Amino acid sequence: NTSTTLRDGTRITDLINPATREVQMRTLSDPELYDLEMERIFCKTWLLLGHESEIPKDGDFVLRDMGSDSVIVARHNADVAVTLNVCPHRGMRVCTADAGNTKIHKCNYHGWAFRPNGDFIGAPVEREMMHGKIMLKEELGLKKARVTLYGGLIFATWDIGGPSFEEFLGDTKWYFDMLFQRSDRGLEVLGPPQRFMVRANWKTAGEQSAADGFHTLTLHRWLGEVGNYAKKDAGTEGSDLSPEMVGVEVSSPHGHALRCIDLARKIVKLTGLNPAELSLDEKLNALPPPGVTKEMVPQLKRNLSEDQLKVMVSMPPQVGGIFPNILFAFVYIPQSDGTVVGLTLIHAYVPRGPDKLEFINWILAERDTPPEMRQKMLEQSIQLFGTSGMVEQDDSDTWPHMTVSAKGAMGRKSTLKYQAMFETGAPEGWPGPGIVNEGFTKDDTQWHWWTYWHELMTKDNI
Ligand code: FES
Ligand code: FE
Repeated sequence: NTSTTLRDGTRITDLINPATREVQMRTLSDPELYDLEMERIFCKTWLLLGHESEIPKDGDFVLRDMGSDSVIVARHNADVAVTLNVCPHRGMRVCTADAGNTKIHKCNYHGWAFRPNGDFIGAPVEREMMHGKIMLKEELGLKKARVTLYGGLIFATWDIGGPSFEEFLGDTKWYFDMLFQRSDRGLEVLGPPQRFMVRANWKTAGEQSAADGFHTLTLHRWLGEVGNYAKKDAGTEGSDLSPEMVGVEVSSPHGHALRCIDLARKIVKLTGLNPAELSLDEKLNALPPPGVTKEMVPQLKRNLSEDQLKVMVSMPPQVGGIFPNILFAFVYIPQSDGTVVGLTLIHAYVPRGPDKLEFINWILAERDTPPEMRQKMLEQSIQLFGTSGMVEQDDSDTWPHMTVSAKGAMGRKSTLKYQAMFETGAPEGWPGPGIVNEGFTKDDTQWHWWTYWHELMTKDNI
């Protein structure tokens, strides 16, 4: 039975061992599994395709991918439409430009024409080409995906009758709203996204995005040892235990993950103020979230609940992922002059084959972020993130090694281990929902990422 068993007889259900919290390493390279993932995960879940500010005008479009399928993401009237970039006539790619503006997408091969929302307009010699009455015009359009906008981010799915995006986010929406729905006018992109190819399986980056905290201590160790960071740390913390290790981690049965990191310590270190003596308003003003100025703080109060604001000034979500292949980072970068620049980044790791992924990096700011601040956000994002950035060069070097390891005759029989388990639960009085644990970072969020991967892969839903 191909839905439950691989060609070599391995049962898909055995790829994960819940008792020992191990995952078979072959999952990081197996082409047969990759094909199943395209069906069972990338045709079933909500996928990030971009931000609506990339296509502000009617007819604007960008070309993106949903798993192994190219899609056109277009502005049509006020709406955003996502359509399969496959001509229903003979299968030619309808659009071959990365981005542009057009009211009509015309297939090069025989000239069938479509509106930005995929509706069929006509063919050059329609009566001859269509042979009359076999199919209606309504049946000849591009295949349409189900689309939702969340904080201006464009998500789409082929699962037309499946869970709504809100249901997909579940309990984690409470936290994601603090990041994506906190201002009056929302976020916008600072230019087109950076795009890179990495010779790695998409899951090496996907599971890391489910809030792998440990690796920042070792792979990115230099962060705690160089420049301003080191100066700030000297005398207050051992340089080998950065404060980012400790916090509150939120897991989700749908594989989403958040790391909420102690901000009070940052307020002390970066402003010299004592958070214990500050009111909620004073804390918001002492260190507003990335891209938010003191003048914009009233917007936070209009858009978020008191409980969300309390978390925002004490233990805000700063890094994590949305299943299956998205990473977000809302991070605070200390500057040599004692100020702080907050960065807002979102990545998608788009599968491009069993051992290749496309790393897409969107750099965002609030629409109301002043020009000087957004310039600094852009410069530092490029310097630190993406595969050209100092931080994520480390990650982009690691994922290919893992992918190659998973191809070895012995390597593929090894297991990935997720045995660092929280036994703490939520801090007392924690107002947020979800599977919440506090303390030194553990493997729980990533383990939940894998168990949801497993749930989808073992569902007979093709
Ligand atoms: Fe597109 Fe024929 S394949 S018009
Ligand atoms: Fe990293």
